Amino acid sequence: MTLHFNAFVMNTGSHIQHGQWRHPDARQADFNDIDLWLDLARTLERGLFDAVFFADVVGLYGPADAPWDVNVREGLQIPSNDPSVLLAALAVHTEHLGLAFTSNVMQQHPFNFARTVSTLDHISRGRVAWNIVTGTQENAARNFGLDRLTAHDDRYAWADEYVDVTYKLWEGSWDDGALLRDRERGVFSDPARIHKIHHRGPRYRVEGPHLPSPSAQRTPVLFQAGASGAGKAFAAAHAEAVFIAAPTPEVAAEGIRETRALAEANGRRPGDVKFFQGISFVIGSTEAEARRKEAELDAYASPDGFLTHMNFGIRPDGTPYPPDTPLRDVETNSSHSILDWLRRSVTDREPVVADLAALVSRRARIVGTPEQIADRLEDWQRAGVDGVNVVNWRLPDSYTEVVDHLLPVLRDRGLAQREYAPGTLRRKLFGTDLVNDRHPAARYRNAFKDA
Ligand SMILES: Cc1cc2nc3c(=O)[nH]c(=O)nc-3n(C[C@H](O)[C@H](O)[C@H](O)COP(=O)(O)O)c2cc1C
Repeated sequence: MTLHFNAFVMNTGSHIQHGQWRHPDARQADFNDIDLWLDLARTLERGLFDAVFFADVVGLYGPADAPWDVNVREGLQIPSNDPSVLLAALAVHTEHLGLAFTSNVMQQHPFNFARTVSTLDHISRGRVAWNIVTGTQENAARNFGLDRLTAHDDRYAWADEYVDVTYKLWEGSWDDGALLRDRERGVFSDPARIHKIHHRGPRYRVEGPHLPSPSAQRTPVLFQAGASGAGKAFAAAHAEAVFIAAPTPEVAAEGIRETRALAEANGRRPGDVKFFQGISFVIGSTEAEARRKEAELDAYASPDGFLTHMNFGIRPDGTPYPPDTPLRDVETNSSHSILDWLRRSVTDREPVVADLAALVSRRARIVGTPEQIADRLEDWQRAGVDGVNVVNWRLPDSYTEVVDHLLPVLRDRGLAQREYAPGTLRRKLFGTDLVNDRHPAARYRNAFKDA
């Protein structure tokens, strides 16, 4: 069985591996330059990567009203650009690469968001995926008119309604064959086959109809990241691909089993949800060379950047936790799953706040020769992982190395695909263009006939 590979990137200078942008070979500081992304997309397509996957945030990390000079100094996801606009450019310069991007339910009204996605799916001929996130940033909440970040589980309830609106627009508003473009009769579209959706929920009222005609996938491939109790329930209901960052294959296996069981309880099948583990690779032609490269990478790591990104060292009121505070005593309205994964990455003692930066920078890293890395990837695969979100150190080198040195070895072992399957991203991943009948979006097909 082959694994899937996504390149996990962000339209910014310092996404995850903070400090690396300073390296003379790193090009991520040039993220405003479209050539960086076009070159990268071509490299990924040459390596038969399944998708480029853009993370995104719509505010600063840190408690409300906290100083944010570290964020700016580190380039910690500021400055940053809108990934959905960039994807339109990448779409016309690629043929097979999946184009996944993150959008927080807070940041766009679902009517407009659904329209953006349909447009991108048309432009890319069906290669778009949406990573549904509920956000973790107080500042982002204030950018969209809220006083506070909505409470953790309530954010998922918000997401439930948000996706419901988009499903109605994508799946229910236009019947197949509604777009006629009949020159003879002078009928562009068939009024009997286009429907208003009349959504009225706690947060949104959307009349419809959807303005774009159906794109190749209608609903984009649905990614989700966030694996708290509420996060797993949301994934089990909606996600087709879940992004995890578990510390070990064993911890991943536990979460995957649980989420798949929940998906089955929702009438879905275990294989309806694919799991992608975030991993960064340090590849050497010998183990010693890989270790040398690792030491060089670590020398560039910025503890300040990691700490500020993770939020967990600071109390909700903005005061820092004492460095010896056990992680189990840290309270957060941010990502419960990331905190839990960091805690569980240390097995011989309870980690404390002072450990955070090192834990974050070292997590899910595989160092070694391509053959050694292949062995470790087989462990992840046995745990139920379907694919890898390759976390980069440096653009574009981290991906060029994977394409030139790791993927050929994986291909020889049958762990990586040898060619692209034709068609849409969903067809490549699941064999069908549209969400399957077991997915909640499918219930809106032909649902608005009489509306
Ligand atoms: C691996 C991973 C990647 C994430 N990427 C993003 C992101 O790019 N943008 C964002 O706003 N939130 C991101 N999140 C936050 C989640 O969407 C979610 O809001 C948060 O983790 C809280 O949910 P949880 O407690 O269920 O994890 C990510 C979370 C995880 C675990």
